[in-house]
Amino acid sequence: MISQLYDVIHRRRDVRGEFTGAPVPDEVLHRVLSAAHAAPSVGLSQPWDFILVRDRAVRAAFHDHVRQERDTFAAALDGEAARRFARIKIDGVLESTLSVVVTYDPDRGGPAVLGRHAIADAGLYSVCLAIQNLWLAATAEGLGVGWVSFYRESFLRDLLGVPGVVRPVAWLCVGPVSHLEEVPDLERHGWRRRRPLDAAVHHDRWTGDR
Ligand SMILES: Cc1cc2nc3c(=O)[nH]c(=O)nc-3n(C[C@H](O)[C@H](O)[C@H](O)COP(=O)(O)O)c2cc1C
Repeated sequence: MISQLYDVIHRRRDVRGEFTGAPVPDEVLHRVLSAAHAAPSVGLSQPWDFILVRDRAVRAAFHDHVRQERDTFAAALDGEAARRFARIKIDGVLESTLSVVVTYDPDRGGPAVLGRHAIADAGLYSVCLAIQNLWLAATAEGLGVGWVSFYRESFLRDLLGVPGVVRPVAWLCVGPVSHLEEVPDLERHGWRRRRPLDAAVHHDRWTGDR
């Protein structure tokens, strides 16, 4: 049981290129969303919502926007970084079975959200925990998930009719995959390497370099 949990945690990958487009049974999707909805949240605010996007026209419109944002990012890169980035796929919006857009409602559970008075971002942290639960549950179900953040919040809000104060936090591509890579895409493409655990652990106070 414990080893299965660790196995899922370490097998989880961000997926862009391995989606097959095969259907996701309703009961599987329900289990995955239930796992997300079981996440801890500040003041039990459960500030998330999940928009299931299957409509191809909506996904195509989002994909066009992502392409533009990709170009914006690419324009800021110099020679070698630009060449590396050109080889990296940054989304599987069109190839995945569906997308799940996870949003954050800062007014949920308010006005006095227990535990958020000093740290406004605690609501956002809660949404990220729901996303991680979703990601791990999907991995356990044999599905892939790819987080796409190449978008402007205002564009996505308009595209999906998200109310004013509610923030889209993640566009997640979800679906069956041919396989999960063992090494993250960015590492495989020489963009960036994972940092060893030892470098991230400090004892009693901050030590060493940033
Ligand atoms: C907040 C967040 C935003 C991300 N946005 C993107 C994205 O727009 N495109 C992409 O290809 N991957 C995106 N990723 C995936 C990361 O690149 C990936 O998690 C990282 O390289 C480590 O790989 P792994 O998730 O396979 O371990 C995002 C991940 C997070 C947590």
